[in-house]
Amino acid sequence: MNILHIDVSPRQESHSRQLSKAIVEKLLEVAPEASITRRDLGTEPLPHTVALYAGALASPATLAAPPKGALDVSEALIREVEAADVIVIGTPMYNFTVPSALKAWIDQILRVGRTMKSTPAGKVGMLRDRPVFIGVASGGVFTGDRANQPDFLTPYLSLALRSVGLKTQQFLPLQATAFLDRDQAPLAREKALAAIDLTPVADLRDGDAWPAVLSGAGRSYRDVRPAPGSVAPAMFSGTPQALGAPAS
Ligand SMILES: Cc1cc2nc3c(=O)[nH]c(=O)nc-3n(C[C@H](O)[C@H](O)[C@H](O)COP(=O)(O)O)c2cc1C
Repeated sequence: MNILHIDVSPRQESHSRQLSKAIVEKLLEVAPEASITRRDLGTEPLPHTVALYAGALASPATLAAPPKGALDVSEALIREVEAADVIVIGTPMYNFTVPSALKAWIDQILRVGRTMKSTPAGKVGMLRDRPVFIGVASGGVFTGDRANQPDFLTPYLSLALRSVGLKTQQFLPLQATAFLDRDQAPLAREKALAAIDLTPVADLRDGDAWPAVLSGAGRSYRDVRPAPGSVAPAMFSGTPQALGAPAS
């Protein structure tokens, strides 16, 4: 089994890095023989879309005969995904959604004719499904009873992954990091990790069919979609408790 472990935060002392590391450790309990491939978008950011790549994606004709080298970065990153049996992503929430470092990766992975088909009914994924675990760190609170900001990260990232065929997803949010001191962080991480469902990984080891949908206690896109009509109050305003920090 090969785990593709992706981090996004530029910070070494990052909550999402520690969470993704803890997720990988959980996976290794189920699959101790697994190998790990690292893709660190935080410390080695991908270039944003350059003219050569954008030109290649401009039309079916340019995609059919792309300029030399135009698809090389995209191809290498897609092959990393294809070589993985399980994917773990640790990412911060930045301005209600994914950081641009993760968006740059998405822009290379979602490619018509290679990882997805464009059909009249929408995009259809071409990659084999495999479990994806996403640890999300946020300074405030974006899901649950105390959410006070919209969440464009979970629905967006979920759709982006599904559009290439990665449908088995678990989102594990670690929220209110702005109010965690050094001593509280490990407990908050444990709580975030408690929702993980390792069944899809155990199923892989047993050689069972690939699970098509999320099962168990983990969070799916549908679980955390913001309520219709929910309003976004200003970020980081109010008391720490109002923002979801633990009451002291
Ligand atoms: C540019 C930027 C934008 C941010 N936007 C949000 C946000 O929209 N919502 C939120 O809850 N926290 C936001 N934060 C706080 C981060 O989500 C929080 O610090 C998180 O712990 C960062 O992840 P890391 O610890 O893995 O680096 C933002 C931080 C930065 C640097």
